[in-house]
Amino acid sequence: MNALFNANKLKLGIFGTNCSYGCTATTAEGTLETTWPNTLEIAQIADDAGIEALVPIARWKGFGGTTDFNGAAFETYTWAAGLAAATRQIALFSTSHVLTTHPIVAAKQGATIDHISNGRFALNVVCGWYQHEFEMFSYSLSDHDGLYEYAEEWLQIVRRLWTEDAEWDFQGRFFQVQHGYSLPKPIQRPVPVMNAGSSAVGARFAAREADLCFISMSAHDEDAGRAKIEQLRTLARDESGRETQVWTSCGIVCRPTEREAIDFARHYIVDKGDWEAVSNIARGRYPARAPRDGEPLRSPGWGSYLVVGTPEQVAERMVHLSEVGLDGAVLSWVNYPEEMRYWNADVMPLLEQAGLRRPVTAAVA
Ligand SMILES: Cc1cc2nc3c(=O)[nH]c(=O)nc-3n(C[C@H](O)[C@H](O)[C@H](O)COP(=O)(O)O)c2cc1C
Repeated sequence: MNALFNANKLKLGIFGTNCSYGCTATTAEGTLETTWPNTLEIAQIADDAGIEALVPIARWKGFGGTTDFNGAAFETYTWAAGLAAATRQIALFSTSHVLTTHPIVAAKQGATIDHISNGRFALNVVCGWYQHEFEMFSYSLSDHDGLYEYAEEWLQIVRRLWTEDAEWDFQGRFFQVQHGYSLPKPIQRPVPVMNAGSSAVGARFAAREADLCFISMSAHDEDAGRAKIEQLRTLARDESGRETQVWTSCGIVCRPTEREAIDFARHYIVDKGDWEAVSNIARGRYPARAPRDGEPLRSPGWGSYLVVGTPEQVAERMVHLSEVGLDGAVLSWVNYPEEMRYWNADVMPLLEQAGLRRPVTAAVA
């Protein structure tokens, strides 16, 4: 069984380790460099700890600033294939922009990774939003809702290739397939699908199609997060008559004392944050500058729910996120390998004691 469907009440993933700086645009020491030994080391630490998933970011261009945040990014199907051969239990996502990979190629690549990993592949379907990177392909993202119609056809073709034995034809608005056929089939039936659409159309697509939906959630507006979780669950029941998992992404700063944790958070966010890169991500949609004194800390990057504190405080936050209604969280740190080891030694046992997770041997079995 894919670890994404194990019995742990709060599932965990590691986010963004295929990209330079991972999830945090900061020049603080210890940030992630895109090398194979680095991404492999993180994958194996996570695999050994019984963490459920590795989730990469599909990125073709960086965001400028002093870091060129995420500018060096491993392609996510080949990344997952490499890690599949070097891990034992963890689920390996590929994050696929629907415009950049033909569904017949995507289905075959996914099936191949599923065989390399013996049934641990999962697919994060994304439509794309960063026009600058799509200019390289000469693709426009201006028809946002149309892209989700495209994604609907794309995913339908991928799923038919994964499941149907006889050849079939497909006549869609965007794709025409004659004598559709793909072998070998994936080991998993079905392959898990994730989507993180957040617009009205995107959330409806996620609720209808995905086994795992992602929401962005802020530690400073939990009511909004709680409402999003409820809406997605209701939407999934209405759209597809089934239950979906709901996950979010967390940036973690855990230190032996609260003072040390807060000091490091301020250091990487305020003193060393690359807010020019963040401002290129935001493109005027929200004020992208370092938080000033007295303002809540916001991480510069993708770990939208920031968790800062001692192992006990961090574990309490994770318990709280589970109580709010989340099934899982993808995690990121400034220095992944070092801070993950600390997490595994000092936070994981507390999550087990709280009943959110089973000890690793049981989780792997
Ligand atoms: C956890 C998470 C991972 C995501 N990964 C990617 C990614 O790798 N590449 C990408 O272009 N968009 C990514 N997105 C963006 C979403 O796919 C989606 O486009 C975004 O949330 C906006 O929603 P909308 O498409 O409904 O407007 C991610 C979002 C989340 C929350």
